[in-house]
Amino acid sequence: MSTAHIKAEIGDIAKTVLMPGDPLRAKYIADTFLKNVTKFNEVRNMFGYTGYYNGKKISVMGSGMGQPSIGIYSYELFKFFDVENIIRIGSCGAYSKDLNLYDTILASDAYSESTYAFVQNKEKRDTLPASKTLNKKLVEIAEDLNIPLNVGTIHSSDVFYRESPEDTLKQAKAKKLLGVEMESYALFHNANVTGKKAACLLTVSDSLVTNKSTTPEERQTAFTNMMKIALEMAE
Ligand code: HPA
Repeated sequence: MSTAHIKAEIGDIAKTVLMPGDPLRAKYIADTFLKNVTKFNEVRNMFGYTGYYNGKKISVMGSGMGQPSIGIYSYELFKFFDVENIIRIGSCGAYSKDLNLYDTILASDAYSESTYAFVQNKEKRDTLPASKTLNKKLVEIAEDLNIPLNVGTIHSSDVFYRESPEDTLKQAKAKKLLGVEMESYALFHNANVTGKKAACLLTVSDSLVTNKSTTPEERQTAFTNMMKIALEMAE
């Protein structure tokens, strides 16, 4: 079975898929945390793996960067590969000085200026919710693991390099946005239109307030708290 961007058999992919942006982070998670791993996709090097975490099946696949990219992969997984749950595990820039590097965020909603949802299905809301069912489970797991979570609305931006970052910070303050990433709004919309579930856990990789940041190597490997929470969603 093959879609335009994924070549795999339906049963090769678990009901729950974790999606980091970077396909090499997907490989790192599979190599480090999963047993009996099989690679189910390598089209465009957007690697996808299925394996077992504590004996339970789970998949992990890169989403690429930005709403168009996660829009394609999440839609194909939900619509054509019987995937029920997608949990994005990504990095974000913090908008609040109360957030430190490596803090973990759970998105209650994603706000965006993006036209993705309107173009896809005339969705007019600029803020879309994550699945309450998935979020409830993720909060319980984080409590069990003693990992503090910052829960709130995040910003899914289409633009990484803005000419006036000050305006963005003002908007973030007015709308009480915790941090900025580039994918969740499209992911949450695709879950809505396909009747599936999506959530997003983020690790703070840089701060737009203090300008502190992590290195690419740290980003690839150091986000273990977020990964441990998400992996417990294996079924
Ligand atoms: N902007 C957008 N996306 C991001 C950022 C950022 O500063 N950091 C990590 N993902």
